[in-house]
Amino acid sequence: MAPWWTRRASGRPFVTLKLATSLDGCIARADGSSRWITGPRARAHGHLERARHQAILVGRGTFDADAPQLDVRLPGLEDRSPRKYLLTRGAAPAGWTAAAAPEAVEGVDSLLVEGGAGAASAFLAADRVDRLLLYRAPILIGAVRPALGDIGLADLAAAHGRWRLADSRLLGSDRLDVYERVREGP
Ligand SMILES: NC(=O)c1ccc[n+]([C@@H]2O[C@H](COP(=O)([O-])OP(=O)(O)OC[C@H]3O[C@@H](n4cnc5c(N)ncnc54)[C@H](OP(=O)(O)O)[C@@H]3O)[C@@H](O)[C@H]2O)c1
Repeated sequence: MAPWWTRRASGRPFVTLKLATSLDGCIARADGSSRWITGPRARAHGHLERARHQAILVGRGTFDADAPQLDVRLPGLEDRSPRKYLLTRGAAPAGWTAAAAPEAVEGVDSLLVEGGAGAASAFLAADRVDRLLLYRAPILIGAVRPALGDIGLADLAAAHGRWRLADSRLLGSDRLDVYERVREGP
């Protein structure tokens, strides 16, 4: 019900941010490569999450680095591939819808943000993230490509009390932690 309720109550989509990181919090190697940080079970879970969302978004940097297809590659769910948004102040390629800001995604109940660091930070800074999916692989990369940039945090006190652990499980050798944003109202 959360996506349906969020859109009716506040006029915006319910946003899930998905990030796959190493133990030291990196989302890619220094050269920008991020395939694959997590293993097949975590990636299959990510595809299931895609099928559950009406729209999916990546930043222009991820589009340029990975050329992601963002389709659902699970048997029987191929036709559930969501509408594709590109976070960019420029134009979008064919088949994609350009979003010039996190607030620009409209007309859908649920949005899955799949990175990279710039897009994730923009959504967090705008306080548009309702749910965090953190897939953590048991690898170390070296902190050159952190998962997040500036999210507009005023001080450490403001960071506390915002996220509640809703689920935690092993997917093969990777850990998935699901956090929900703690909000007073809608
Ligand atoms: N491990 C993972 O989970 C994961 C997931 C995805 C990507 N990655 C990796 O992450 C790296 C890419 O990350 P990145 O941080 O460089 O790029 P990114 O977040 O994919 O895209 C950054 C771009 O998004 C646009 N943008 C950012 N903030 C914006 C805002 N507030 N309003 C409008 N547009 C905004 C800008 O595009 P314009 O300049 O066009 O305006 C900016 O250059 C790649 O190496 C990729 O492989 C890892």
